[in-house]
Amino acid sequence: METRLPLIAGNWKMHKTGDEAVQAAKHLKELTAKAVGVEIMIAPTFTALSQVAAVLAGSNIALGAQNLHWENQGAFTGEISAAMLVNAGCRYAIVGHSERRQYFGETDQTVQRKIRAAVAAGLRPVMCIGETEAERESGQTFSVLDKQIQKGLESFVLQDLKTLVVAYEPVWAIGTGKTATKEQAQEAHAYIRRQLAGIVDDGFARLVRILYGGSVKPSNIKELMAMPDVDGALVGGASLDPETFSQLAHYRG
Ligand code: 13P
Repeated sequence: METRLPLIAGNWKMHKTGDEAVQAAKHLKELTAKAVGVEIMIAPTFTALSQVAAVLAGSNIALGAQNLHWENQGAFTGEISAAMLVNAGCRYAIVGHSERRQYFGETDQTVQRKIRAAVAAGLRPVMCIGETEAERESGQTFSVLDKQIQKGLESFVLQDLKTLVVAYEPVWAIGTGKTATKEQAQEAHAYIRRQLAGIVDDGFARLVRILYGGSVKPSNIKELMAMPDVDGALVGGASLDPETFSQLAHYRG
């Protein structure tokens, strides 16, 4: 029976120059060389991708991008296409991170277009969803997640979604030190998996990996990963230091 290989992913956001990223990637590669039963991914800034790809060649760490544009090429100043990311060595692309939704006007519709572009180019999309604090407090968590899933994945068929990864990142837990409890994470993940079963099918829902993101650190990863529907972590702050991130990749101890 196929199982869900845990994925521990680091989103470096707008941190580290190319040289700093190379140093961190080299160190991480050494520290995680013996990690088994887990997939590791790091997403540096665009300008560091090619340099980091060279460092990671032959390692068990995959390279990811933090964003992409939905067109292949053209007059889109400042944007980067999926083909360019593949050429730079990326296997994954994060799509619809809450910071992109909040500060850069991304919507469920742009998320949908970006997922389509990623898949067409052979990149595995990591679709980020999650509610704000106000939405949680007003009891809208599940309706927000439902809308983000339905609209973000609108008009896809199973074949398109085989490499999809979903990241549940409650906005109130990102960079705040406030982690969702393991019960809150499990409840949201189980809900997301049920919705995915509804819009795709049960087999897909059983295999799709759902990562938790939001103040994941060495002190809380073990209990989060012990939850039946938590298949990995998307880590911001704690992914920047190779020693700390390596502890997360070795969460089993
Ligand atoms: P923190 O781990 O810093 O809370 O960030 C989470 C995140 O946004 C990962 O994409």
